[in-house]
Amino acid sequence: MKKTILTGIRPTGNLHLGHYFGACQNWLKLQNDYEFFLEIADVQALTDNFDNPEKVRKNVKELSIDLLSIGIDPKKTRMFIQSKIPEIAELTVFYSNLVTIARLYRNPTVKTEIAQKKALFGNEGESVTYGFVGYPVSQAADITAFHGELIPVGEDQLPLIEQCREIVRKFNHIYGETLKEPEALLSPTPRIKGLDGNEKMGKSLGNAIYLADDEETISKKIMNAKTDPEKIKKDDPANPEICMVYYYHKLIKNENLETVCKECKAGSRGCVACKKELIEKMNEFLSPIREKRTYYLEHPEEVKQILEDGTKEAKKKAENTLSSVKTSMNINYEEL
Ligand code: TRP
Repeated sequence: MKKTILTGIRPTGNLHLGHYFGACQNWLKLQNDYEFFLEIADVQALTDNFDNPEKVRKNVKELSIDLLSIGIDPKKTRMFIQSKIPEIAELTVFYSNLVTIARLYRNPTVKTEIAQKKALFGNEGESVTYGFVGYPVSQAADITAFHGELIPVGEDQLPLIEQCREIVRKFNHIYGETLKEPEALLSPTPRIKGLDGNEKMGKSLGNAIYLADDEETISKKIMNAKTDPEKIKKDDPANPEICMVYYYHKLIKNENLETVCKECKAGSRGCVACKKELIEKMNEFLSPIREKRTYYLEHPEEVKQILEDGTKEAKKKAENTLSSVKTSMNINYEEL
């Protein structure tokens, strides 16, 4: 029997190269060998964006189209919308009794995110909502609803998987063996850097290349990418290891990589020429994705159907889980 994989992604923006190389590329492989569930985590996105549901709503569609365009295959993967499966919300309520507030505040991921919020919005304790602090509980429900065994995540998510494991153990201890303890499947690629050399790529940092970017946008962004600051003139030798243009040549596997490196070091390659080559290669890389994006943008009814089918399959599994959870807790009330 194939093992079950469950992963989720928040619909708060389009996919960028950081998502693609950091996570999605791995999903494309995993979907071939596992029972693969891919959750568009709109409920979780709302914990941060409850005052802007329109943003979440719009990005459910954008993200679904991005995911299909990179090769998420609806024949292999059950892609579904979290809020369409109320069983997840019910499980969240039952699990919330098994977690202390102190433990949630100690979760390193939650802790870091609260600190980031405080840095942005000031030190008012009130800005942290119950829903936000509780999102690890809801994520435990995401995972266990489908008996997820392997959870592909980046390093920052490991504390959430650990918290889920604790919830599962506590549930099984109190109510009897019911749920499966998941294991994290750490992403094989480290975090992808931004065009400006920042360790993280992201929308707020303005340093990301999106899979949906058109040729002109790609060109502008790459022309502004950070290169070796010591290189002033076109034929100065430079250090490719600190150049983001070289970093991206490497990332998208330019077959001329060795030449790029050699010429850069020797000073026989100007940055403008090097950037132009990257623009060309980047467009080659993005072109099949763009074609599929255009197709799905023109066929929204097909995207809708894929989500409906995925959600239906996923819901069946979540219904079974909820039913066995209620049976274990002896709250099925089939007879009084
Ligand atoms: N918290 C994850 C993120 O921000 C998204 C997510 C939601 C998730 N539910 C999940 C990841 C379940 C793994 C399993 O990236």
